[in-house]
Amino acid sequence: MDRKNIEVNPLQMICGDYIKKIDNAIETELELYSESEFKEPLKFAIQGGKRIRPLILIFAAQSVGSADENAYSAACAVEFLHTESVIHDDIIDNETMRRRKEPFHIKYGYNTSILTGDFVLGLILNISSRLNNPRITKDLATAAMLMSEGEKLEGILEESDDVTFDDYIKVMEYKTAAAFDVAARLGGIIGNGSEEQIQGLSEYGKNIGIAYQIRDDLIDWKNEDKLFNLLVKKSSDPRDVFNKMEFLLKKYSEDALSNLRKLDESESKSVLEELVKFTSFKE
Ligand code: IPE
Ligand code: MG
Repeated sequence: MDRKNIEVNPLQMICGDYIKKIDNAIETELELYSESEFKEPLKFAIQGGKRIRPLILIFAAQSVGSADENAYSAACAVEFLHTESVIHDDIIDNETMRRRKEPFHIKYGYNTSILTGDFVLGLILNISSRLNNPRITKDLATAAMLMSEGEKLEGILEESDDVTFDDYIKVMEYKTAAAFDVAARLGGIIGNGSEEQIQGLSEYGKNIGIAYQIRDDLIDWKNEDKLFNLLVKKSSDPRDVFNKMEFLLKKYSEDALSNLRKLDESESKSVLEELVKFTSFKE
């Protein structure tokens, strides 16, 4: 069993109460579909995540204003989008374990996996209609499309014998950072931040997202199926690749932090900074 599957949520320590509130909002959202065949599978799929994306949304909103009921609804939308991407990613990567449990496709099968993904997009549209802000809808749509582009590009590059670091970063940016970016952006929008603050939060999200994926790949580097592994194989000295990864992890973490400088000091801003430490933590 790999490390990823035995971890407890390290964010519980710094934001336990917020995680509870996010989980309650998710539960309330799922209650809307109590008659649906998808409720129980979706409940299974969303259980056990660290909730880092919704936490970023809530603290981004609080760092420029406050996090109201709309912020929690948007946080649910972002977590459901992540959940849906994990269901499909586990199929693409042939995973046999997720969050100490069997992955969704092994428990429920491929048909339910495909259909749950479709259902989730509808659920997100539904949340977005309640938020009644075309900018939010557009940003959620962009994130969903970029995440698909990233997965697709990763598949193409895995078949190629000419993968570069720039390709790798582009995949990280689309596949993973798009969700972090939209989380931070929506927090900025819903918290009524200025355009400059929203832009800064968006850059924070993008950079912390890339750092997060680099860290995840460094931890999981033995996984033969990772794109990162191709870079290692291609290199004449794998140490060069690891050094470059360490360098990039530091660079993106620092860029995430520097984009927070535009925000006034606050407890929520400190939590956003703490989250960067969490993503750049090496084991
Ligand atoms: C897993 O994301 C996929 C990546 C982008 C690395 P998380 O590590 O946020 O997954 P959960 O939701 O906490 O399990
Ligand atoms: Mg994958």
